Amino acid sequence: MIRSVVPFPALSCRALACRAGGRTIIEDLTLEMAPGERVALTGPSGSGKTTLLTTLAGLLPPASGRVLVGGVPLDEQPGLRSGLALVFQSYGLLSLLTAAENVEVALRAAGRPPGEAVPLAARALATLKVDRFADHLVEELSGGQQQRVAVARALALRPRVLLADEPTAEQDAGHRGLVLDELLRVADTGTTLVIATHDPEVADRCDRVVELRDVRTGA
Ligand SMILES: Nc1ncnc2c1ncn2[C@@H]1O[C@H](COP(=O)(O)OP(=O)(O)OP(=O)(O)O)[C@@H](O)[C@H]1O
Ligand SMILES: [Mg+2]
Repeated sequence: MIRSVVPFPALSCRALACRAGGRTIIEDLTLEMAPGERVALTGPSGSGKTTLLTTLAGLLPPASGRVLVGGVPLDEQPGLRSGLALVFQSYGLLSLLTAAENVEVALRAAGRPPGEAVPLAARALATLKVDRFADHLVEELSGGQQQRVAVARALALRPRVLLADEPTAEQDAGHRGLVLDELLRVADTGTTLVIATHDPEVADRCDRVVELRDVRTGA
């Protein structure tokens, strides 16, 4: 007998509610994202994009509902978080380490030996055109340079799901295209990409747009 195989979504949430500061920010959100899908997450400032990405990354527990990775609830198997990478809106870099060390530390935490982490980090920094700052402390870099290091760190991990929070917000026109091209490219290898953005061009280049509304105002 031939069975049809329905693959699980790479990432999904069911009846998700998120609270922050004692208020409900997201309520009753159900989404499914396929392997290799590029999803833009839009909505006004304060609508909950960062809150949602942080919850999908498993860093903020939902108030109710569930996040599932490959169909498996994240709260039941926290180890699934290792397949998720988040580019934080405020970069989330260790400011007293160099750019290269920031990427290497993430690779080491993911289990790569130093002999692999060092060249992988160097390659990722070169791809994002921040290799000439590899040995600079992060606190010496501009906001746009730090943001590209944060993108390099996430890309170097080759995650199954890459969540990126306004990853082009600090970039000039040339670097904005570079960051976007490199992020979109990972979906070709099956990585699911979710990009929070206010940039209509970023949303246009994704397969699907999910728009959040501000639950307080309905806007
Ligand atoms: N730790 C917190 N304490 C209190 N309120 C919070 C906290 N985190 C988020 N909020 C509130 O949750 C709401 C959603 O914030 P969030 O940062 O998720 O929005 P956003 O869509 O990412 O906005 P932006 O486009 O400006 O980045 C806002 O009203 C914010 O003030
Ligand atoms: Mg945000």
